[in-house]
Amino acid sequence: MTKKIAVYPGSFDPITFGHLDIINRALKIFDEVVIAVARNERKSPLFTVEERVDLIRAVLKQNERAKVDTFEGLLVDYARSQKAQAIIRGLRAISDFEYELQMAQINRGISKDVETVFLMTSVFYSFLSSSMVKEVHSLRGPIDGLVPPLVKKALDAKFNR
Ligand code: PNS
Repeated sequence: MTKKIAVYPGSFDPITFGHLDIINRALKIFDEVVIAVARNERKSPLFTVEERVDLIRAVLKQNERAKVDTFEGLLVDYARSQKAQAIIRGLRAISDFEYELQMAQINRGISKDVETVFLMTSVFYSFLSSSMVKEVHSLRGPIDGLVPPLVKKALDAKFNR
């Protein structure tokens, strides 16, 4: 039987419990999930791509069905190179939908072979984003419950705390 492979792309700057929730949901459907950190993001990230990859690997520990990688260029080309049938995107709220629909339709226009699959996050994480985590942390607010402890440690280290 063909292995069902999905690529879960994003900035992951840094990975949050919301991302982990999506990864765990995707692992229930797909045999393998490739978490793919984008190298060509226009945003100016807090963590380098390598730091983000290391954090994701450390958080996922040893899960042979969850791979961590980086990509540059078109997402659909990368998905094809991984022999993935699907691209996973998380939806938190209706506000995510417009951008996500646009991206999914653009990707479908470029390649018909890869389907975008939307997964809804747990309602507990429907307000959560990496940007919010960074903002709350920069203002010395509590971020326990939003990111794994080792991500909090990495944020503390970035700000010499
Ligand atoms: O976590 P993010 O920032 O919402 O992820 C966005 C990402 C990296 C998935 C998106 O920007 C992307 O796919 N970039 C790769 C370039 C590409 O393929 N663009 C065409 C689709 S819009």
